[in-house]
Amino acid sequence: MENRPQWGSRAGFILAAAGSAIGLGNIWRFPAVAYENGGGAFFLPYLFALLTAGIPLLIMEFTIGHKYRGSAPLSLARISRKYEWIGWWQLGISFVISVYYAAIIAWAMSYSIFSLKLSWGDDTEGFLFGEYLKLAETPGEFGSLVPGVLIPLIIVWVITLGVLFKGVKKGIEVANKIMLPALFVLFLIIVIRAITLDGAITGLNAFFKPNWDVIFDGKVWVAAYGQIFFSLSIGFAIMVTYSSYLPKKSDITNNAFITGFANSGFELLAGIGVFSILGFMALQQGVGVDEVVSGGVGLAFVVFPQIINQFPAFNEFFGFLFFGSLVLAGLTSLISIVETFVAGVQDKFNVSRTKSVLVGGGLAAIISIMFATKGGLYFLDVADYFINNFGVALAGLIEVIAIAWFARELKNLQQHANSVSDIKLGAWWRICLSVITPIILGYMMFDNLKTNIAENYGGFETWFVTAYGWAVAVGVILLGIIFSLIKWKKSNLDMNESEEVSE
Ligand code: ALA
Repeated sequence: MENRPQWGSRAGFILAAAGSAIGLGNIWRFPAVAYENGGGAFFLPYLFALLTAGIPLLIMEFTIGHKYRGSAPLSLARISRKYEWIGWWQLGISFVISVYYAAIIAWAMSYSIFSLKLSWGDDTEGFLFGEYLKLAETPGEFGSLVPGVLIPLIIVWVITLGVLFKGVKKGIEVANKIMLPALFVLFLIIVIRAITLDGAITGLNAFFKPNWDVIFDGKVWVAAYGQIFFSLSIGFAIMVTYSSYLPKKSDITNNAFITGFANSGFELLAGIGVFSILGFMALQQGVGVDEVVSGGVGLAFVVFPQIINQFPAFNEFFGFLFFGSLVLAGLTSLISIVETFVAGVQDKFNVSRTKSVLVGGGLAAIISIMFATKGGLYFLDVADYFINNFGVALAGLIEVIAIAWFARELKNLQQHANSVSDIKLGAWWRICLSVITPIILGYMMFDNLKTNIAENYGGFETWFVTAYGWAVAVGVILLGIIFSLIKWKKSNLDMNESEEVSE
């Protein structure tokens, strides 16, 4: 396909990549996952996963997209048709994530409005599950639609698809240039307020104190890798797609480091903010920090409103800032998640962007309505867990093994990255990807798989985790294989010199 769209500037690309990485994962997911996996114990696996897998993989995905100039399936097919299925699998993962991700942004949108009057009252848990989500009694039951969730959900899709219709430079780049700096300012105000609250230090201690008892538990490690991959937007086709829009003469490695550190810096900032606030709350209630945190997907929407109620002043303002930043962070990421399958469909089937947004984005929007039903939260919980542990983290692992061991592409990619980048990659990069990540993540994945087979996630019933967890995780693999069997038009698959436009 000729004339692949391009970013308008280097800053535009970095903002878009950082906008994709910084998302609900950093603010909504990270504190909950960290807490469920031993609090401070999570920190070490997290850092290890970031440095040995996260950043090296980010560099790898940037390089693949830039060198092969295509969405994930196209780029991988250009390496060899044998690996195309991994690209489609990752697109499937993105599709699943997009449908529930949009629902969480919708909740945050509602909550930014609720915060103006602190409408959640004193019983924030009852408000979320009862009044707002109208949660069904039993997992697996759909129940009727909940208009309070459906309306913001429609708004989320209108914004997202509206941006995508406008294209890479005029849509995605412009949206990120506005939303990301705004997010940063909002969030900084919250964190500064958080660390100056009484009791903040107790919360921070709970966050940073290592807990050695769980350090050999595969579950904690897979959760750390899953979180890093989710948070950096790697392993589900996004960064390959975004870097395929880079002009030919663009830095890769340095851009990856900037994106990676911006994301983890923000995540750490969110962790510090969230745990300082939890420390404040523990002090107010005269209990330990571990007692104020309830894990699970509701954390941000139960504990935060409670804390906002107890803020010394400007409660409504801080509530609005917090949920407003969730919306901004979420939108810039959702845009990138949906772009992956929009680009994939466009590359393979040679259709216009408008058509691809309408079909791909439209389908995701329709399916996401299931999360606006009374049973939505249960589906969301299980889908999020399985698609991260046996989707994102597993796809990242298989991608690394395919590229490093089977395609033996790492040296080529290294050469390509070094030819355009300031920071030169060395053997460390190849060792991280070909030895450390496959061994550690591979072992931990195996251990986690055993645990999940022995025991149902979250205490849900077997039929429920099978239908909405395992079936989704395995289903996207099968879908990946099926899509990869569809033939390419030769002109789409071949690298075309004219698409390699330079700056
Ligand atoms: N990277 C995005 C996030 O952290 C998906 O939410």
